[in-house]
Amino acid sequence: MLTGYDFSMARIIDEAGIDVILVGDSLGMTIYGYLDTVEVTLEMMINHGKAVMKARKKSFVVVDLPCGTYEKSKEQALQSAKKVIDETGCDAIKIEVTRDLIETVKFLCENKINVMGHVGLLPQHVREIGGYKYQGRDEKAAAEILKISQEIEKAGAFALVIEAVPAVLATKITNSISIPTIGIGASAECDGQVLVIDDLLGLNQEFKPRFVKYYADLAGEISAAVRKFSADVRAKKFPAAENLR
Ligand code: KIV
Repeated sequence: MLTGYDFSMARIIDEAGIDVILVGDSLGMTIYGYLDTVEVTLEMMINHGKAVMKARKKSFVVVDLPCGTYEKSKEQALQSAKKVIDETGCDAIKIEVTRDLIETVKFLCENKINVMGHVGLLPQHVREIGGYKYQGRDEKAAAEILKISQEIEKAGAFALVIEAVPAVLATKITNSISIPTIGIGASAECDGQVLVIDDLLGLNQEFKPRFVKYYADLAGEISAAVRKFSADVRAKKFPAAENLR
């Protein structure tokens, strides 16, 4: 699974045969320049979901429900999920699941919404937990994440993202539930892995969590390209004869 937020990138990801495109609320940082995901709105998710769905041919598309659109009540969650699915045509939604939201997962699934759960580090909670910290490090916290994961499966979710927990815990969760687990900073033993596309492409190299691997240096390549453009324009080399009628 990879995140995708716009038409061009989604088309490339889809054509490359990636199983799932996640229109993640990480777009709050990658697209909108916020420090975290907390201020992302449903409208933003819908707009980017629509753009991704225009490009999608084969990939399964999941859209995040953003902070404040599903926690108040299960009815609020269903209304938000339906709005996202109706307006974008996406295949599923993802929500960050704390213990008190298991009933919401169940209610959404009973109402025929495909739900991907998200446990471990919950980015929508970073302000409460004081930053992007690994979760489930002591026995009690690990047991709680394991229990919630099992309850998410029982509630009917079809897949589970496990973010930033010790590898042994992610492996234990993966072995104890039958729905696919998708890791990020978790374990190679998860059934799948997810990365934020900007991280994979090396688009933002200011901050590199340990679990990120750059598969390209697009920041460097883009910078070189725009500098070349600027130099060509100043030197009157662009547009050249072949670029004109
Ligand atoms: O919003 C996002 O990009 C995510 C992934 C990090 C799993 O939730």
